[in-house]
Amino acid sequence: MFATRVPARFVQRQKTMQRTLVKDALNATAPSDAILLQGWVRTRRDAKAFSFIELNDGSCLKGIQVIADAGLPDYATTIQKAHTGASIVVEGKLVPSKGQGQQWEVVATSFQIVGEADATYPLQKKGHTHEFLREIAHLRPRSNLFGAVFRVRSRMAFAIHEFFQKRSFVYVHTPIITASDCEGAGELFRVTTLHEKQPPLNEDGTVDFKKDFFGKKAYLTVSGQLEGEIFACALSNIYTFGPTFRAENSNTSRHAAEFWMIEPEMAFCDIEGDMSLAEEFVKYLIRDAREHCAADLEFFSKFVDKELLTRLDFVLERPFKRCSYTEAIEILNKSGKQWEHPVQWGDNMQSEHERYLAEEHFKCPVTVYDYPRTLKPFYMRVNDDGKTVRAMDLLVPGIGEIIGGSQREERLEVLRENMAHHHLNEKDYWWYVDLRRYGTVPHAGFGLGFERMLMFVTGVGNIRDVIPFARTPGTADF
Ligand code: 4AD
Ligand code: MG
Repeated sequence: MFATRVPARFVQRQKTMQRTLVKDALNATAPSDAILLQGWVRTRRDAKAFSFIELNDGSCLKGIQVIADAGLPDYATTIQKAHTGASIVVEGKLVPSKGQGQQWEVVATSFQIVGEADATYPLQKKGHTHEFLREIAHLRPRSNLFGAVFRVRSRMAFAIHEFFQKRSFVYVHTPIITASDCEGAGELFRVTTLHEKQPPLNEDGTVDFKKDFFGKKAYLTVSGQLEGEIFACALSNIYTFGPTFRAENSNTSRHAAEFWMIEPEMAFCDIEGDMSLAEEFVKYLIRDAREHCAADLEFFSKFVDKELLTRLDFVLERPFKRCSYTEAIEILNKSGKQWEHPVQWGDNMQSEHERYLAEEHFKCPVTVYDYPRTLKPFYMRVNDDGKTVRAMDLLVPGIGEIIGGSQREERLEVLRENMAHHHLNEKDYWWYVDLRRYGTVPHAGFGLGFERMLMFVTGVGNIRDVIPFARTPGTADF
């Protein structure tokens, strides 16, 4: 029943006739006598003498209306079998539409079903929950919501490259497999080829990782920063954009075990320059989405988050606020709020605190800088007070942290002290230390969580719904 049947004459024809994407058909400036469309049936409605089929090919949110005359050959055997979800090929004329809300429609001259779909096709009607759609992640890109999300994701990836390339940043591919824990949080996935049950052992009974594939323990990277610094200290301004992995067992709407991160790194740059780039970058991406994903964003503002467009425009219009960690803690403690996690100087801010600062206190994105040294990794530059480091986090309304960055410690002796403090073996990071031995420079960078940025731009509230296939604790389906 689900056999694919593309008649030979049809395949022949397609060689000479070029496919038109629905997006281009809907934006046509003139009618056309012959047009070829390929896509999936969203809906079909039969009248006496016609069938109306909405064909969507994912090139844009909207589908195009196809009108199939009952006089077409095989009307009963093909068109009336074109159920929701079936893949079809339509040849016809592009004509001005008589219907409301669309400029063009297609009058079919030939109509073929490539792959049938029956009543068990799960995307029959609108109004499925996000949770249900997550369970059918192989079909959800065919829904309006997820088509829109993944078109925006694609455009944002392009805009990210454009932003940096325009500014002469060099794109660097940092490794996925690494032996170092950049963030020092121990949230690493190990990569090993050792035998599960009988790994080689040392004399004391511990596993002998010298016999593992890489001759030492290896992991999936949590960040490309350390390798990024190597390249910044040679090519001046660089960025990475790739997948990163964290084995943190937090089942929240903002954490994924596999997520994509964009990490610029700039030589001859301090924390101020770093914060400015972060602000310019976030605004650039929002502006780009407003311009190039207008229809999809309007869809989100109608069906996902009514405040979306107002919020995005508000963010574009104003400078972001800046405030030190010390000031932030004072603000939180003077707020009169009952925190689930009370917070004092020296504590990590929780999501509730970050969101209060951005949503209620400043009511706009805010960059918090100069965090306690004890909270942050070994590579951050120590301030003259000896207690704080040149770290910065960008917090946005609705999400909290989307960017984490810092000025890096460029002074050899201070870096060595920091490493000792964090119980790191200098020998393991000899190359990182070397950068401070030979031609060291002040430098800074940050990491933007791609999915968190997408949540901000689309208003979609769960990270699982802005990445094609989410990896979270307990789930690695598809
Ligand atoms: O703040 P993080 O841990 O910073 C770093 O990794 C630095 N090495 C970056 C740098 O300076 N080059 O992570 C950066 C950003 C966070 O602000 C957040 O947006 C995102 O990465 N992020 C996550 N996104 C989804 N799921 C997770 N589990 C995430 N952990 C961090
Ligand atoms: Mg962080």
